[in-house]
Amino acid sequence: MIVALADFLHELDELAAAGGAVLGGAADQAALETARVEFLGAKSGRLKTLQKGLGSVAGSDKPAAGKRFNEVKQLLEAALANAQSRLASADAAPSGPPLDPTQPGPRPTLGHLHPLTQTIEELKEIMGRLGFTVADGPEIEDERHNFEALNIPADHPARDPLENFFLATAGATAGSPDAGLPGGRPLLLRSQTSTVQIRVMEQQPPPVRIIALGRVYRPDTADATHYPMFHQIEGLLVDRHVTMADLKSMLRLFAASYLGREVHIRFRPSFFPFTEPSVEVDMSWGDRWIEMGGAGMVDPNVLRAVGYDPEQVTGFAFGLGVERVCARRHGVADIREFYKNDVRFLHQF
Ligand code: PHE
Repeated sequence: MIVALADFLHELDELAAAGGAVLGGAADQAALETARVEFLGAKSGRLKTLQKGLGSVAGSDKPAAGKRFNEVKQLLEAALANAQSRLASADAAPSGPPLDPTQPGPRPTLGHLHPLTQTIEELKEIMGRLGFTVADGPEIEDERHNFEALNIPADHPARDPLENFFLATAGATAGSPDAGLPGGRPLLLRSQTSTVQIRVMEQQPPPVRIIALGRVYRPDTADATHYPMFHQIEGLLVDRHVTMADLKSMLRLFAASYLGREVHIRFRPSFFPFTEPSVEVDMSWGDRWIEMGGAGMVDPNVLRAVGYDPEQVTGFAFGLGVERVCARRHGVADIREFYKNDVRFLHQF
């Protein structure tokens, strides 16, 4: 039986069209393998079947039929190779849903205020409700504000150069009034926030109702409760008829507000050059008393040093350690943790 060339070529074209479509559309490796067997299978693929038909084409038509057959074979093989590489690169691509650019991005980790700063903000807020405004002063001070106006005489042990961070400024020596600074004043890092009492009273007449919060510096060896730099909160109230009872109720209110419950305040007799009488302030903590700082009635010499009349006004002052109250409240056993900048510690607050 002789097959007409036109019919043979027509069958080749159909095979080319069908094979190209099925191989090109295979969605996965299994579908592609099925298609490969159907069209290019070595035993009974459709191309193989047509190749057998080549023998039935008339001899003079054989070159044309063979040429077209080879073209279709190459075409199907190319379609198979294309499909293989297409599926291989799809396999290598990341699985999962495609990128959705409209989704919200990963949330950045936000930091927060340092626990000491949080404490300072909270203390300011509480004292603000009690009518105290915030005053500020420099951390580099002169001896008048750190000592003299606070009634701390030149021979007082607190003025010992070894107890303070005096600045090595040109020729200025602790305790030498004519030392070589402009004005001959030695400078030091303030050892207490009581300096701000003086600065405020120098600037305004009574009444005064301020708090000051900030860093102070002392050459202490760092341990669980000491550090060469720490923070104090200072309070000063000067007015007519201010008494020690006012001081005690104010401190009790302050402590209760900070801790959020009733607190007992205990005064122990003490001494500070700038208060008379002077006390240590303890706060009840469970079944223990915790020392919070010092306080007292402003010494008349301090009032005189800033030009106030101690016959007209009286006042109280207190100074508490910020690290101490913060550590107490959060159960921090070692204040050095506050300064290490270890986020594993800091992120807990
Ligand atoms: N300035 C004192 C200190 O640093 C604390 C204090 C302040 C005491 C105010 C009495 C009055 O220890």
